[in-house]
Amino acid sequence: MTSQSWVYRSNQSTYDVQLESRSVPSESEIPADSVLVRVRAVSLNYRDVIAWRNLAGRQVDGRVPASDGAGEIVAVGKNVRDWMVGDRVAGCFFQKWQSEPFEMSYHKTDLGGSVDGMLQEHICLPSTGIVRIPSYMDFAQASTLPCAALTAWYALVARGSLQKEQTVLCIGTGGVSVFALQIATALGARVIVTSSDHQKEERAMQLGAWKTVNYVDSPNWSEEIIRITNGRGVDHVVEVGGPGTLEQSMKAVAPSGHIALIGVLTGFGAPTTSLFPLLAKNVRVNGIYVGPRDEFVRMNDFLESNKLQPVIDKVFCMKDAPLAFEYLHSGKHFGKVVISL
Ligand SMILES: NC(=O)c1ccc[n+]([C@@H]2O[C@H](COP(=O)([O-])OP(=O)(O)OC[C@H]3O[C@@H](n4cnc5c(N)ncnc54)[C@H](OP(=O)(O)O)[C@@H]3O)[C@@H](O)[C@H]2O)c1
Repeated sequence: MTSQSWVYRSNQSTYDVQLESRSVPSESEIPADSVLVRVRAVSLNYRDVIAWRNLAGRQVDGRVPASDGAGEIVAVGKNVRDWMVGDRVAGCFFQKWQSEPFEMSYHKTDLGGSVDGMLQEHICLPSTGIVRIPSYMDFAQASTLPCAALTAWYALVARGSLQKEQTVLCIGTGGVSVFALQIATALGARVIVTSSDHQKEERAMQLGAWKTVNYVDSPNWSEEIIRITNGRGVDHVVEVGGPGTLEQSMKAVAPSGHIALIGVLTGFGAPTTSLFPLLAKNVRVNGIYVGPRDEFVRMNDFLESNKLQPVIDKVFCMKDAPLAFEYLHSGKHFGKVVISL
């Protein structure tokens, strides 16, 4: 039996994605400790744009894209006891990262980067590289969880120890930031969202944001954050911008606050500003790279209890996957972009 897979193919200095047929392992070919998943939905992350546009110089020729997908198990290896055919699951971003601490070897197991990802109809995954998806979610919703949602959870809750009534700053309205807004709001925090777009600011308010700041109208947006927080600054910054936003984030964070360093939306360069404010304010800085499987399970329990609804901007069909990459790249989205398989 064959199955359809999107695959990165080198095109001069960047990559195209091409649809190819690959054979599906028969039941006897499934590794003893693995399961075969029929993928039903995939969501894209900015990292997929980084790979596709070759923004980080990563070699992905021939690799199946995407870390984030959900589907149902259609066959199990002979040693698998904890999963059954029909179970609804999502893949883990780092296939080998089960719990703290992180090891550099886990980088060799990131779906859609070092190993083939979810943008294919069938994928074989180790039984320890999947989690059960929340029962109230459909596959499209669940496909948004492995990277964007877990990163927000791990940054704010697991590593950030977010407390009720603290203030959180989310930069922009992409996948990680909208999940951070939803999770923090559900935990009773007050969330300030920056955006370049007034309509997106309105949507953030509808989702429970406390305040919004337009970072185009106010390039020195930290001044607005300081004003809104009565001169104190925010307790947590979900820093997805990178070198181009760090200076404002350091100004916006409160004394003894926390900055979760997550993203590179403004590039991979070095910050052009002094890091001294971090010392002067006794700021806690956490480098965040998605999160381990046990936190994915904890997050799903939280989602199950709180029934958070992932925000999906647009769903593309399998044959239109290249359009989904272009749409994410355009930055027009609010929340997540999904491909239905
Ligand atoms: N370390 C990790 O574990 C991890 C995990 C996930 C993602 N990331 C990184 O985090 C970043 C966000 O990822 P994502 O998938 O959430 O991205 P995304 O969905 O593509 O987010 C794009 C949004 O970010 C905002 N934005 C873009 N450029 C900006 C700028 N210069 N200043 C402020 N905001 C800007 C825009 O919001 P508005 O349209 O509202 O202005 C844009 O719509 C990326 O760099 C990604 O690589 C890291």
